[in-house]
Amino acid sequence: MQSIYDCYTLNNGVSIPCVGYGTYKAAYTKNEEIISMAIEAGYRYFDTASFYETETYLGKAVKNSKIPREEFFFASKVWKTEMGYEETKAALKRSLEHLQTDYLDLYLIHWPLPTPDYNDWKQLNLDTWKAMEELYKAGKIRAIGVSNFLPHHLENLINHSEIIPSVNQIEFHPGYTQEVTVQYCKEHHIQVQAWSPIGRTRVLEEPLILELSKKYQVSPAQLCLKFALQQDIIPLPKSSSIERMKQNQDLFSFEISKEDLYRLRTMPQTGWSGYHPDY
Ligand code: A2P
Repeated sequence: MQSIYDCYTLNNGVSIPCVGYGTYKAAYTKNEEIISMAIEAGYRYFDTASFYETETYLGKAVKNSKIPREEFFFASKVWKTEMGYEETKAALKRSLEHLQTDYLDLYLIHWPLPTPDYNDWKQLNLDTWKAMEELYKAGKIRAIGVSNFLPHHLENLINHSEIIPSVNQIEFHPGYTQEVTVQYCKEHHIQVQAWSPIGRTRVLEEPLILELSKKYQVSPAQLCLKFALQQDIIPLPKSSSIERMKQNQDLFSFEISKEDLYRLRTMPQTGWSGYHPDY
């Protein structure tokens, strides 16, 4: 990978850029300002979700940019309260309206369980997935996947449905690498993506991160993003400043050594968000 526009190929043949912009929390200005800035900074892959309430702003910002829709990659997600066969179809319709588009590049189930004590999550996931498979076949979505799924959640889908998810978007950063889930996804050709790739700044002061960012002469954030990229994981950083938006794309002029990658992969757990899909 040489730039954020270089792509991986998903298990259904669709190309997906190797770095995207995460729009969670980009709604606090209550307008499209931050997303317009991200477009100006060069991002074309935007990760949104009905839950983030940023779909409308993304739709407006893209319209205002005058850049053709086909140059963008839009990913959105079905929220916990939108799961189920009919509900998912209605949710996609709303997302498309908000985004002012007639297709999504990627659509994900946001969480495997609507609540930790939800009994029949397996059937709920299958009903939701069935709707997504049909929307995919109808050409409304170019690829379908999941988010925050652990191997036992993935097994349920894989063993009982037609289409294997193309993507699993999970929390991933130094200090929280979810090795078991990543390994499972790699074995099943499911592209892993990292939400909170810089641990929402919680890991930026870690001594090892500081030591290595000094060694490679990059910022701690750049080190974290490269950490994901070097493991073929798509980082989805978010920032509200144009300088940091640009800095977070400047990842291709250094390489973390194998030894340092192992050190980062084995550092004690830190910076975890506290969100576990089953609890
Ligand atoms: P800001 O919006 O002020 O740039 P994550 O993507 O892991 O959830 O982290 C998002 C947080 O990281 C935001 O608070 C954002 O703050 C901050 N951030 C993003 N890019 C950088 C960077 N290059 N250096 C320092 N902090 C950053």
